[in-house]
Amino acid sequence: MIAQIKIKEEEKIYKSKIYIIDTDIDFTALLDNNDNYGLVQSELKRKSTIFSLRSIDEVKIFVLIEKKDDELIRLEFTRRKAAEAYALLKSNNFDEVALYCNNSELESAFLEGLILSSYNFDKFKTEKEKYKLKSVYSSQSDAELQNLLSAVFWARDLVNEPPAHQTAMDLAKEFENMSSKIDGLDSEVFNKVQIESLRMGGLLSVNRGSVQGPTFTVLSWNPENAVNEKPIVLVGKGVVYDTGGINLKPTGYLETMKSDMSGSAVVSALIRAVADNKLPINIVALIPATDNRPGKDAYVPSDVITMMGGKTVEVINTDAEGRMILADGLTYSEKYDPELVISVATLTGAAARGFGTKVFVSMGNAKEELQNLHQASLVSGERCWEVPFWEDFAEELKSNIADIKHLGGVNAGAISAGKFLENFVSSPYIHLDIAGVSFLEKPEEYRPVGGTGTGVRALYVYIKNYINEKQSAS
Ligand code: BES
Ligand code: ZN
Ligand code: ZN
Repeated sequence: MIAQIKIKEEEKIYKSKIYIIDTDIDFTALLDNNDNYGLVQSELKRKSTIFSLRSIDEVKIFVLIEKKDDELIRLEFTRRKAAEAYALLKSNNFDEVALYCNNSELESAFLEGLILSSYNFDKFKTEKEKYKLKSVYSSQSDAELQNLLSAVFWARDLVNEPPAHQTAMDLAKEFENMSSKIDGLDSEVFNKVQIESLRMGGLLSVNRGSVQGPTFTVLSWNPENAVNEKPIVLVGKGVVYDTGGINLKPTGYLETMKSDMSGSAVVSALIRAVADNKLPINIVALIPATDNRPGKDAYVPSDVITMMGGKTVEVINTDAEGRMILADGLTYSEKYDPELVISVATLTGAAARGFGTKVFVSMGNAKEELQNLHQASLVSGERCWEVPFWEDFAEELKSNIADIKHLGGVNAGAISAGKFLENFVSSPYIHLDIAGVSFLEKPEEYRPVGGTGTGVRALYVYIKNYINEKQSAS
């Protein structure tokens, strides 16, 4: 169970307290005694940002947030400080905590960071983690944040599930199960026979090496009060395990490849949060899913595949499977006549090498929306950076035998992958490569080891801003 956000009662005595102090404004009233005020002043002089006072059955943690030139960086600093505070709570074994703060924006950033830090995946441990943060008392209850963070935790769980426990069919069942619990969130799952009749050649060819069938899941949220007529359609890569196929990955590359369905986790968690919070927007999530394996009948380099829309694709490397399954998802999106299409995928090692574990890569032809997404990414702390998307990058995709090759040269691999995908969408398009940020081998601040769910919060802020903009325009 995720820690619950509750309203703090002024009379109640809490045994563990965190003072989040905006040192740029007066904080005398926040502290309950003069000793603490003096202590904070002297720690501030020493440039401390976090310290704690412990007595027999009580702990007080002080987090000092100084002014920074950039307010959004300050909020992210606050979220990250919350991870340190969480470690202190855990080492003191306090299962509830009350927050005291003189700046409501800092308080909610801290709250977000604290809960995000409390994630733990112990499903497969015989001895479960004993410590659990149960409740956080804050100046306001925040059902919207609670739902959003529950969706992030759910996305992390999906990514952490090992491949033998999560075939494409299992994953689709998870999506169905999730949607059945939310009123108005519809789901439909296509099995192999239906995928064949849709002629999804990309998804089917990647699936050929597998003994498990592929799935294609459609999640849709269409509330009556939606601000948009044409929906926003998200397409998430659902490769439940990527061995590379016939172009088998070597040791060192295979170990994290259960995370290759992170795009599907992000788009489904996003629509879950949107639906849970009843946001007035038409939105659809499409999820092609399969594993990628070198089975007896696996597709091979030099194969030519007829994709869903009829385009032919020359296969160069079976490890570039994500774009094959996404292409069919993108083609399928056309039936909605979308206002905007966004693909989310752990698509290329190039994105991971170029930008590391903290920044995901954005690109596309929907220029204004890319700007808005970038702004949302700064607000959420899940940052993205846009790379160029000129036609030059598509030149390498020319094929001698088919309409197009699915792979460019060795350089600018993240961009040429995006250019490949662009062939399958005629609506305004954004592609997000989350290969670097989806899975961590060691924890980073409020992001745990394993699946991170990165992208859900950035996209959620983007969707909120999109709705606000539409509402203020009408
Ligand atoms: N799933 C991988 C990309 C990936 C790499 C995700 C590292 C997360 C971390 C993708 O399917 C892939 O294998 N891409 C290859 C393509 C190459 C063979 C042309 C890559 O980028 O190395
Ligand atoms: Zn691959
Ligand atoms: Zn992959």
